[in-house]
Amino acid sequence: MPPERAISCLFVSGENGGETMNVFQPVQATMNGHATASDRVLRPRRLRISPAMRRMVRETTLAPSDFIYPLFVRFGRGDRRPIASMPGQFQLTVDELAREADSILELGIPAVLLFGIPEEKDWCGSDNFSPHGVVPEAIRALKEAAPELIVISDMCFCEYTDHGHCGVINTPTVDGYTAALPEGYLLNDPTLELIGRASVVHAEAGADIIAPSAMLDGMVAATRGALDEADLEHVPILSYAAKYASSFYGPFREAAESPPSFGDRSQYQMDPANRREALKEVALDVAEGADMIMVKPALPYLDVLAAVRKEFNLPTAAYQVSGEYAMLHAAAANGWLDLQKCALESLTSIKRAGADMILTYFAKDAARWLSAGQ
Ligand code: PBG
Repeated sequence: MPPERAISCLFVSGENGGETMNVFQPVQATMNGHATASDRVLRPRRLRISPAMRRMVRETTLAPSDFIYPLFVRFGRGDRRPIASMPGQFQLTVDELAREADSILELGIPAVLLFGIPEEKDWCGSDNFSPHGVVPEAIRALKEAAPELIVISDMCFCEYTDHGHCGVINTPTVDGYTAALPEGYLLNDPTLELIGRASVVHAEAGADIIAPSAMLDGMVAATRGALDEADLEHVPILSYAAKYASSFYGPFREAAESPPSFGDRSQYQMDPANRREALKEVALDVAEGADMIMVKPALPYLDVLAAVRKEFNLPTAAYQVSGEYAMLHAAAANGWLDLQKCALESLTSIKRAGADMILTYFAKDAARWLSAGQ
């Protein structure tokens, strides 16, 4: 900051009969070389005097159009199952989706993100690339009921495999088994092939956006290549570019019935301690053709989000994950926090840090709170 713009104030603490006293003493205040307030106190509080004044100078505002609402689609019919660790969230069967789509659109939320809970899981997650799998059916139902609702398909295999990992696991019985790699290793390139295949199936069912979320190397290029080869060049990719191996996904594993049966996801998702590595991950996905990028989770990774937003010029999403939602609910249920205020404060901070879009289980509630003028 050039010296002529510097405004310096001095806090003097002195002793007075044994009591410590703080004296606020402006010693110098200059603006563009002019002494403006050398004998006046600077008072930022002037702009906080009333709700109207605060609103006028507010830097960050939330709107329902900022939100993307995740939905869990379950096999079967006529079922709306509450998810215990995520109060207010449900697993819905395909026939329940039309009603849900209406209420989402009515609230002004532009998009949903789909997760599937298939009837049967297997070694390669085949429900995910079957044209009659639970998510392709859900996509068709949603696009029929509400064509203007953007449907984003979360492209991962952990909900569909019997071992709960995000793709093909190296075992002697599977296609792609590689003796040189450790057993139990998530096979990168055989999984990319399946990601490409499933992306085409979902896009052909009508998905507006494919969101690869497995944190495999080359997943964006594989998705783009497969889509383009199937003449689906118009379908954009939202990449889970910087996705951390986070314990905040705990409730999601219940919601999606997808806990890994052995080990965890630290060999493919990022180490929570790394920020520079996030920039590398995002750069690779951008180079591979990602149209939009995501940082996940949100609140514990706001520094990463801000760094990514600063470095890259793509629409940037942040995912406020299941654990972030669950902990606010748990504290509120105990009477320890005000749910509405804390949820909106969290969402505001995520947007302030740089998110253009926020994936959040609070989407519907927040849209209601916002329209009620809160
Ligand atoms: C992977 C996926 C996960 C989440 C979104 N996509 C789980 C994981 O990576 O283990 C977590 C979302 C949340 O916790 O809300 N398909």
